[in-house]
Amino acid sequence: MILRSIFNRLLFLLVFIPACAQISDETQQSNEVKTTPYELEIPVGFTEPVLAEDNPLNQEKIALGQKLFFDPLLSKDSSISCASCHFTHKAFSDTVRFSIGVDDSLGIRNAPPLFNLAWNEAYMRDGGVPTLAMQVISPIQDEREMHNTVMDVIDRLNVHPEYPQLFQTAFNDSITPFTLTRAIEAFEWTLISGNSPFDRFEYQQEEKALSPSAQRGWELFKSDRLNCIQCHSEFNFTNNTYQCNGLYENYEDVGRARITHDSTDIGKFKVPSLRNLGFTAPYFHDGSAADLNEVIDHYAAGGKKHFNQSELIGGFELNEQERFDLIEFLCSLNDSSFVSNTKKLNPSNIEL
Ligand code: HEC
Ligand code: HEC
Repeated sequence: MILRSIFNRLLFLLVFIPACAQISDETQQSNEVKTTPYELEIPVGFTEPVLAEDNPLNQEKIALGQKLFFDPLLSKDSSISCASCHFTHKAFSDTVRFSIGVDDSLGIRNAPPLFNLAWNEAYMRDGGVPTLAMQVISPIQDEREMHNTVMDVIDRLNVHPEYPQLFQTAFNDSITPFTLTRAIEAFEWTLISGNSPFDRFEYQQEEKALSPSAQRGWELFKSDRLNCIQCHSEFNFTNNTYQCNGLYENYEDVGRARITHDSTDIGKFKVPSLRNLGFTAPYFHDGSAADLNEVIDHYAAGGKKHFNQSELIGGFELNEQERFDLIEFLCSLNDSSFVSNTKKLNPSNIEL
């Protein structure tokens, strides 16, 4: 008996171990061939983003993340995808104040646009989610959005004719919460917008890229009279802080205080980028401003004097020409090449 068992073990060692080693070698080799490394193209004037180290980019992963982003399979009744609220032709924002989730449920905040996410320090309008990968869980599980569970999504993906192989190729791994969220994160990192007329004027020395009117608007934007640049600063037009811009005297949505439970954070929201405003109306966390004139009216009036309102919101007067110039400048941040490229990502080929 003992001898036999020793013999069996030897046989096992001889037959299976080398064979297994060989298989894993082959998988490694074939994987090296299959995944194609990918480098983000960073626009002139932008800093290098600090990407999560647990998610090295490759083209297969990005393509997989893109497929998932547009797949209604992620939602409970397979009726909506990420792109149902983040429209490709609207710099990935929604056109309505509050988005509609499964079972026609109404959201509580305006869906923000999605671009230059790799530079964000935190996600959501209150900064409540620390990483882009973690953010993916939120819409999947939110009862007002996809109203599903991550485990159910994984079960569905596992019986799908294509996904198991696509995950295997992109990650050399199976479908897990880790790989699911990293695929979508990788796709979202590639949504980079930095080729507006303003960028060409400011960073690429194309003096004619901005009209004289937009150039005057840029000066106004930077002026001590308007103070816009104090919060909407740097290449992405945000200083990545949470501020109360005095939209309400009483905030129904307490913003940052939802996360910190600190009364000095009531009414504070993440300072949003001002890029692509031409595509992202309506504005503010609740979509309460229909157009840029309404936004400017709000700032010119000096806010509603909430107790947390920033001292930088003091009100100002603009004549007709100045208001026109300011809007011309804001519209010079529209990156139409970004939007015409992202429109093509939509797999349903809907005429937009
Ligand atoms: C039903 C509409 C809806 C769907 C579906 C949806 N989102 Fe959103 N998304 C929103 C809203 C609303 C917010 C703002 C939430 C907040 O600030 O609390 C948001 C915020 C985000 C943010 C944060 C952006 C930032 O600047 O901080 C990201 C990233 C995002 N969504 C990606 C996704 C992905 C990926 C999916 C699919 C897995 C998805 N969304 C599905 C409505 C939606
Ligand atoms: C004290 C910081 C601060 C200053 C100064 C400031 N903003 Fe804002 N801005 C914010 C915050 C915070 C929000 C988001 C508020 C919300 O969602 O309710 C915002 C939102 C906006 C939006 C809407 C963007 C969107 O995608 O919804 C526009 C446009 C805007 N600001 C333009 C301006 C202009 C123009 C000026 C100068 C006249 C200015 N801001 C000055 C902090 C500031």
